[in-house]
Amino acid sequence: MALEALTPVATWLAATPMSRAIGDVHWITPAVQCVHILAIAVVMSAILMMDLRLLGAAGRDDAMQMSARRYLPWVWWSLLVLFVSGSTLIVGEPRRSLQNPIFLLKMALLAGSAGLTALTQRPFGHDAGFWQVPRRRYAAKALAAASLILWVGIVFAGRWIAYAQE
Ligand code: HEM
Repeated sequence: MALEALTPVATWLAATPMSRAIGDVHWITPAVQCVHILAIAVVMSAILMMDLRLLGAAGRDDAMQMSARRYLPWVWWSLLVLFVSGSTLIVGEPRRSLQNPIFLLKMALLAGSAGLTALTQRPFGHDAGFWQVPRRRYAAKALAAASLILWVGIVFAGRWIAYAQE
C-alpha cells in the first residue's frame, strides 16, 4: 500500500536531471555509499558506548550523563550525514529503495530507535542521576538492550535492501 503510494514519486525522481547525473557519473554512488558507511560506523560506535554505559558494562568511572554529553552529538550529526547521503542514493536509484518493503522497514526501525535514544537520554538534561536510582536501573538496562537490537536491525535492513529487489 505505502509502496504503491510511492510509485509516482519514484517515477518522477528517476526522470529528474539530478537522478540522471548521479547515474551517469560512475564514481558518485560508490563515493556516497562510502560516506554512508563511515557515518554508520560513527553512529553505531556512539550508540554502543552510550548503551554499554546504561547497561553498566563500560565507562563506569564516568557518570551516565557524561557519556550522553560526550556521545549524543555524534549520534545526531551522523544521522544528518546519513540522511543526506541516503537521500542522494535514493535520488540516484529511486525505485531500488522507494519500491522496496525492506527500505520502509529500515525507516520504521530508524524512527523507533531515534525516538528511543532521545527518550533515554532526555532525562539527563534535568537530572544527571535519573537512571542511576536503584528502582530505574532495570528499566535503563532494558531500554539500552532494546536500543542495541533496534540499531543493529537498521544495519541489517540497510544491507538487506540489496537482496530484496524484485
Ligand atoms: C534517513 C536516513 C537514511 C536513509 C535515507 C538511508 C538510505 C539508504 C539507501 C538508499 C541505501 C542503499 C541501499 C541499496 O541500494 O542497497 C542505504 C544503505 C545502507 N544503509 Fe542507510 N539510510 C539512512 C540511515 C541509515 C542508518 C541510521 C543506518 C545504520 C545505522 C543505515 C545503514 C545502512 C546500511 C548498512 C546500508 C548498506 C550499505 C552498503 O552495503 O553499501 N542507514 N541507506
